[in-house]
Amino acid sequence: GTVVLAYSGGLDTSICIPLLKEQYGYDRVVTVAANVGQRDDEIAVAEEKGKKLADRHYTVDLKQEFVDRCLFPSIRANGLYEGYPMGTSLARPIIAEAVVEIAKKEGATAVAHGCTGKGNDQLRFDVVFRSAGLEVVAPIRENNMTREWEIEYAEQHGVPVPVNKEKPWSVDENLWSRSVEGGHLEEPDFHPPEEIYAWTVSAMSAPDTPLEITLTFEKGLPVALNGKKMSGYDLIREINRIAGSHGIGRNDMMENRVLGIKAREIYEHPAATVLLTAHADLERLVLTREEYAFKQSVDAKWAQLAYYGLIYEPLWDALNAFIDTTQQRVNGTVDLRLYKGTVTVLGRSSPDSFYSVDVASFDSKLIDQTDAIGFSHYYGLQARLVKAKGKKN
Ligand code: ARG
Ligand code: SIN
Repeated sequence: GTVVLAYSGGLDTSICIPLLKEQYGYDRVVTVAANVGQRDDEIAVAEEKGKKLADRHYTVDLKQEFVDRCLFPSIRANGLYEGYPMGTSLARPIIAEAVVEIAKKEGATAVAHGCTGKGNDQLRFDVVFRSAGLEVVAPIRENNMTREWEIEYAEQHGVPVPVNKEKPWSVDENLWSRSVEGGHLEEPDFHPPEEIYAWTVSAMSAPDTPLEITLTFEKGLPVALNGKKMSGYDLIREINRIAGSHGIGRNDMMENRVLGIKAREIYEHPAATVLLTAHADLERLVLTREEYAFKQSVDAKWAQLAYYGLIYEPLWDALNAFIDTTQQRVNGTVDLRLYKGTVTVLGRSSPDSFYSVDVASFDSKLIDQTDAIGFSHYYGLQARLVKAKGKKN
């Protein structure tokens, strides 16, 4: 039979190709590499290796879908997990869907991935694969493999080993973020060497001159940089470049995975840091207190489902529907300063702002301060009543 493998070109997924034949007895292995905006040379490597090692290889371009279906909703939802902008978790479901589509086209009965049995990605793939009714094969997980064993197996089977034994970082990249884990980084007290970073300079070596930029949002989505209209994809690319050059968007995290395992993860996400900062700021200008407070709990739930890869959960659509409603008034511009690893909001404005200087100002003519005297009499009333009762007892 035929098995379709989600393929990155890395060590784990590469050794899956001979394993699926030798150990699992499939006679055809089809690889699928998904372009979700990672560096072009990564895609090229995956394509070249897939063509060489597999019976058939597909490279699917998911860049537009990733922006429209994953990143835009995540901007609207201020998508953070434990404080960092999610990236990998947003891309996995659509990669899995692309694999399912090709499995159907190829008449495959099974789909495979190269995830370990310790991480989140296995669950994000599995949940999409299973809901398509396909059999799931996960050779790394099922064989309880170690890195050392994998490298040896690769060398024996003519699979090029992309990581050398001294620097065994495992990297996952898409348009929104880059994650680095593994090797010495697994020790929480190990100081990450500068060489693991690819999208950002260190804050210390960033330029001494700050850069000011203006972002324009329409319905909660970024549409222009410094007044110049850009597609979402180009805009994110460009902000990654400029914010990365100012050292913005690094995270070194002890993170709680779905299974409960703690993991040390390093992230780079310059554009996500800038765009989420600006978006959240604009929301605070235009949303009512009630909308804002409630949306924070919706955003938190949204992030949890996204991290867990549960986008087929009916609640997912309900949360998105709420979020979309709130975004109709999230229009306007935010001015920001990029400087040595920090992004600072300098000012914001919106045609939908209901903020009123006349209401808030000390010199207000609209507000009669004496109106508040009566309100104040009732303020905290119940606590006073309880306290008074306490005195008597
Ligand atoms: N911890 C992050 C997440 O769960 C990143 C995972 C990176 N995945 C990978 N296969 N290297 O989203
Ligand atoms: C893996 O363990 O396969 C990668 C990390 C993750 O899925 O969280």
